[in-house]
This record gives sequence, C-alpha cells and structure tokens, in this order.
Amino acid sequence: MILFLLFLVRKHYTSLKNLPPGPQPWPIIGNMHQMAKNPHIAAANFAKKYGPLISLRLGTRLLVVASSPDAAMEILKTQDRYLSGRSIPDALQQSFIDYYFVWARDCNKHWKSCRTLCWAELFSAKAIEAQSTLQNEKLARMLDFLNNTQGTVVKIEELIFTTLINTLSNILFSKDFLDLKDDETAHRLKFGLLKILENSVTPNVSDFFPIVGGLDLQGLRKDSLNHLDELSSFSDAVVKERRAQITKKVHVAVHEKDFLDRLLENNFTTAQINILVLELFIAGTDTVVTAIEWAMAELLKNQNIMHKVQAELKRELSYDSIMKSDLSKLTYFNACIKETLRLHPVVPVLIPRRALKACEVMNFTIPQNAQLWVNVWAISHDPKVWEDPNTFKPERFLGSNINFTGHDYEFLPFGGGRRMCPGLPSAVKSLQTILASLILVYDWTLPNDEDPKTLDMSEKFGVTLQKEKPLQLIFSRKK
Ligand code: HEM
Ligand SMILES: *[C@@H]1O[C@H](CO)[C@@H](O)[C@H](O)[C@H]1NC(C)=O
Ligand SMILES: *[C@@H]1O[C@H](CO)[C@@H](O)[C@H](O)[C@H]1NC(C)=O
Ligand SMILES: *[C@@H]1O[C@H](CO)[C@@H](O)[C@H](O)[C@H]1NC(C)=O
Ligand SMILES: *[C@@H]1O[C@H](CO)[C@@H](O)[C@H](O)[C@H]1NC(C)=O
Ligand SMILES: *[C@@H]1O[C@H](CO)[C@@H](O)[C@H](O)[C@H]1NC(C)=O
Repeated sequence: MILFLLFLVRKHYTSLKNLPPGPQPWPIIGNMHQMAKNPHIAAANFAKKYGPLISLRLGTRLLVVASSPDAAMEILKTQDRYLSGRSIPDALQQSFIDYYFVWARDCNKHWKSCRTLCWAELFSAKAIEAQSTLQNEKLARMLDFLNNTQGTVVKIEELIFTTLINTLSNILFSKDFLDLKDDETAHRLKFGLLKILENSVTPNVSDFFPIVGGLDLQGLRKDSLNHLDELSSFSDAVVKERRAQITKKVHVAVHEKDFLDRLLENNFTTAQINILVLELFIAGTDTVVTAIEWAMAELLKNQNIMHKVQAELKRELSYDSIMKSDLSKLTYFNACIKETLRLHPVVPVLIPRRALKACEVMNFTIPQNAQLWVNVWAISHDPKVWEDPNTFKPERFLGSNINFTGHDYEFLPFGGGRRMCPGLPSAVKSLQTILASLILVYDWTLPNDEDPKTLDMSEKFGVTLQKEKPLQLIFSRKK
C-alpha cells in the first residue's frame, strides 16, 4: 500500500517536473486584480519573466500560456491534433453540450458537420459572392440611416452591430432581427450576446480559491442561462415557422434556399439549429464590430494615415462600385486592417484550447485536459517580434507577405490549425465594405469638438478585446 502511494507520488512528481515553468502560486495571487481584469497583459508580463511557455496553476486547473511565435506554432501546427479540444467555461456547461460548434469539446462528428456546412453555405468564395446583393442592401440601409441622422451623435457599436446582425440573420433565415431605429432592442441583444461571451471568460473566483467552489459565486451560470433562453426564442420561432411551411410543402426554388433550409435538409434538430445560430451570432458579430470600432478609432487618431487611406479609396473606387470591386487590391487600406488586428487582436488569447491527450510542446509536457491560451496579444506587442510594437503603423505590412491566414505565427488574429476561425473570409469582407463606405461617403467628427489625438484607447478584456469607452461619432456627408 505504502509502496503504491510512493509510486503515485513519484509518478505525479515526474510528470510535474516536466511542466513549463511559471509563477506558483504567490505571484498569481499577488496579481489577482490584473489577472481578473486584463489576464492577457498579466500573462504577457509573466512570460517576460518565466519564458514563452508558462504554466499557471489556478486552484485545481492547469492553464498553459504560449507567448512566442515558436510556441504558438507548436500548439497550432505540430501538436494541433492533440491540442484541438476546447475547454468549456463552466458558464456554458449546459445540457446541450454535444451540440456546440465554437465550444465543441473535441473535433467530434457534429463539429465536423457544422464546419463542412458552414464552409459550403456561408464562407466559401461562391457563398460569399451569393451574399453580396444582400450585404449591399444592408450597407445601403446603414448609409441612408446615417444620412438622416447627420449632426447627431451615433454610437458606432450599435450601428454596426445592427447592420451585421441583420446581414447574418438574412443569410441564415431570410429575416431581419433588428431595426436600425430601434436601438433599444439592438442594445439589449448586443448586451445579451456580450454577456454570454463575457461570462465565458471571466476568471472564475472559485478557480483561485477552490474552497469556495460550488457556490456559483458570481452567478455566472444562471446569468448565461437567462440570456441564452432569451436569444434562443428568436431563432426558435423562425425554425418552427419554417418546419410548418415544409410540412405544408410550400415550394422554394433552389436558388432561394437559405442556410436554415440546408440545416433542415441535413436533419439538424431544432435544438441543434438554435445552438448553432446562437454561436454564429456570438462569434460573427461582436468580433467584427470591435475590429471596425478599433480601426475607426485608430484612423481618427492618426489623421495622416486617414488622409492616405482616403486618397487611395478615392483613386480606386466610387461609392457605387464598393460592393462590386475587389477590395483586397487596395494595398494601403488592407494594411490598415491588418495593423488594426495586430495592435488590437479582438480575440486576444484565442478561444481557449484543451489538451485532448498529454503531449510535448517545446520539450515540456502538457498534461491531458490542461487549458491552453495562445496569447496573440503578447506576441503582437512583443518588441522582439515587431519593431515599435505599440505604434499604429500600417506601412509595416506594405511589401510584406505576412498575412492572417494562420501560417505566420507572429500574426494570428484568427488563430490557426483545425480550430482556426472559419469565418475569416466573411469577416474580412464585412470589415472591408463597411469601413470603406464609411470612409468614402462620410466625414467623421467627435462630439463636443473633442480632439481625436487625445482619444481614449483603453481596452476592456473579454473574449473580444473591446474599447472601454465606446466610440461615438457625428457623421456628415462628404461634399
Ligand atoms: C474580425 C473578426 C473575427 C476574428 C478576429 C475572429 C477570430 C477568431 C478566433 C481567434 C477563433 C479561435 C481560433 C482558434 O482557436 O485557433 C475563432 C473561432 C471561430 N470563429 Fe471567428 N473571428 C472573427 C469573425 C468571425 C465571423 C464573422 C464568424 C462567422 C460568422 C466567425 C465564426 C467563428 C467560429 C464558428 C469559430 C469556431 C471554430 C471552431 O472552434 O472550430 N468568426 N474566431
Ligand atoms: C468555478 O470553478 C469551480 C471549481 O472549478 C466550479 O465548481 C464552479 O462551478 C465554477 N463556477 C462558475 C460560476 O463557473
Ligand atoms: C441625404 O439627405 C438629404 C436631406 O437631409 C437629401 O437631400 C439627400 O438626397 C440624401 N442623400 C441621399 C444619398 O440619400
Ligand atoms: C435525413 O433524414 C431522411 C429521412 O430519415 C433521410 O432520407 C436523409 O438521407 C437524411 N439526410 C441526411 C443528409 O442525412
Ligand atoms: C528539445 O530537446 C532536444 C534534444 O534534447 C533539443 O535538440 C531541442 O533543441 C529541444 N527543443 C527546444 C525547443 O528546446
Ligand atoms: C491575405 O489573405 C486574404 C484572405 O485570404 C487575401 O484576400 C489577401 O489577398 C492576402 N494578402 C496577401 C498580401 O497575401
């Protein structure tokens, strides 16, 4: 018996010996305020001291953080097979756990069919092309709305959120969810989606002090459930209506079929559809809104860069041709988008991964079920990787082949490997069209004659790294 215990202790000890180094545990507790408010920065600071791969023991959990391009490559490429699980936040541990896509615990069958279907129907070049009329329409509506609200203060995040939600809901269901004028619902829905996101990354106090665990101290789980219910009822009604139509055999032409029709053809249940739709809204709206808001804030702050972008857009495009043009030819404009995603990676530590099986990364052992963060924020702010990393300088991407397609490990705003963001083509298209038309058609000014040079650029951590002070602008149509 004693021998057996000794064996266990020894085994435990040897497996621990090979863990990545890291602060244990006092420096973590000493930095708890920062860990809770800005974990990406706290982890970046630990990396400076302990190296590019560190482990943090939080209560009963082990978190491994990678903060260099080499470490990121080993996780997202070399060992991607073993590290492609997701660590489900407690807040999302619900009964429909098997239906998750973004949060799927491993690359299971349902995850595969979600990826295949989403690729074919939403993100392939053909699908994106098919969406362009619809996208154009929503964009025109946004610009019209601004034409009628000239001189008044507009909250950028609500404006763009509404536009994106409506574009996405039309692609999925052929229906609008929100009205631009109805900012209250937009606000509530955005808040609901955000709340779920926020709850799912807010470090769980019980993780730090396991003794108090089980009390659901912050009420995260209950809160998430409430919002999930509210949001699911939106899509639930649409799915029921569509099923009724199908039973009545209402004929729909092949080219008029939307994503919902495809899901039903593939025998997705109503519950599976609700979860998938919800996950797509969560993954696909707030991320893009946040990226656009950061891009606009940086362009306002850096007027010389704004002038160069305006000149390029004026030279290459007219308003009518925005949707028809290939915006990826605009080199300076696209460099600004890349630089925004570098300086403000909207998903700062990727969506946490989980080790499906113990494996080696940089000669250290990652135990099974460890949670992994690839600290993209740390990599993109590292002076060893980027010259003058804290300055917004789109020029750094001119004449460079570095791209966000998941193969350049110093620049990973969309992640990499098999869990990489599948929505990239759609995200880039939305970023390009919305940003280009706002720049081309309107002049932007800050309320109260605030000086753009002093714009507050503080970040607020969540799954998406938001602007702490939401950007508000007054638009006036260009003469
Ligand atoms: C600027 C916009 C966006 C950024 C920066 C972004 C970033 C990311 C990142 C970093 C991940 C995790 C990747 C990893 O674990 O390696 C991810 C996953 C995902 N994203 Fe995006 N995303 C954006 C827009 C979108 C859009 C528009 C959609 C869909 C409409 C979308 C759908 C998804 C989905 C479904 C996943 C989960 C994939 C999986 O787990 O297999 N994203 N995204
Ligand atoms: C926090 O973590 C503890 C221990 O891991 C868990 O028992 C508890 O349910 C979690 N609470 C929330 C709100 O996620
Ligand atoms: C913008 O609004 C003004 C009136 O405020 C109107 O005269 C003009 O035609 C509108 N322009 C467009 C493109 O809708
Ligand atoms: C869906 O179910 C029907 C009837 O059970 C079956 O004929 C069809 O092959 C299934 N479709 C797919 C894509 O699995
Ligand atoms: C891992 O160990 C091998 C041999 O022990 C060594 O050649 C290699 O450089 C090490 N790799 C890293 C990333 O330290
Ligand atoms: C970067 O990737 C995007 C999306 O795949 C593509 O449209 C663009 O042409 C690429 N840019 C460069 C410079 O390779």
